[in-house]
Amino acid sequence: MSRKPFVAGNWKMNKTVEEARQLVAEMMPELTEISTVERVLCPPFTSILAISAMVTGTEIGLGAQNMHWEEKGAFTGEVAPNMVREFCNYVILGHSERRLYFGETDESVAKKLAAAFKVGLVPIVCVGETLEENEAGRTEEVVTRQLREGLSLVPKEEADKLVIAYEPVWAIGTGRAANVEDASRVIGGVIRPVLADMFGAATEESIRVLYGGSVKGSNAAEYFREPAIDGGLIGGASLKKDDFLAIVRAAAETA
Ligand code: PGA
Repeated sequence: MSRKPFVAGNWKMNKTVEEARQLVAEMMPELTEISTVERVLCPPFTSILAISAMVTGTEIGLGAQNMHWEEKGAFTGEVAPNMVREFCNYVILGHSERRLYFGETDESVAKKLAAAFKVGLVPIVCVGETLEENEAGRTEEVVTRQLREGLSLVPKEEADKLVIAYEPVWAIGTGRAANVEDASRVIGGVIRPVLADMFGAATEESIRVLYGGSVKGSNAAEYFREPAIDGGLIGGASLKKDDFLAIVRAAAETA
């Protein structure tokens, strides 16, 4: 079965509304045309409304970078799942920066995932080992735990909608992208078998698994050519029109 290639831009804490509008306006003509790739933009919350107005009526998806799991209430500074769902169809969950700086755990990821499915958001779930874990040969153990615990509350009948991003922490924003063979080995040899074990082989075959970490226009094709890798979660390069479009084009070549 063939999975539709998937490329998401994680803008992180970058761009004012005006800058966000400008970037999307510049990318729109070409981005709307590459319809063989599922394209998703994940701006900061403050720009979501403005970008939603620009992508409504196109096939370009919109995602948030985080959300709370509760429906509403006294959670100062947080955004609820149904608030995200008003504008977005995707949400990034468990990004390593959330885990590292904001105390995100496999348990909170699990609760957020359950909440995302409840409101009809497609979660893009990030997993990946730190440099220390990698050097200690613990990649398989760490990624397996993140999946088994993080995905523990996913409704089985909806698991085929999941998008998983393998992002080795040491490769994010460092310019030190993971070796293609290593990324492919973790995705094909660890992540896919765990997904198959949790949800069944047929469901696993539908789940898109992305690579993320220093993907650029110049190296994207190498990753996307790997049969185990269905696309990318792009940070820094998603803030640059030419780089992001080159990455989406590289994904289209594998469609
Ligand atoms: P990067 O970030 O492409 O800037 O390495 C990837 C990510 O954090 O999703």
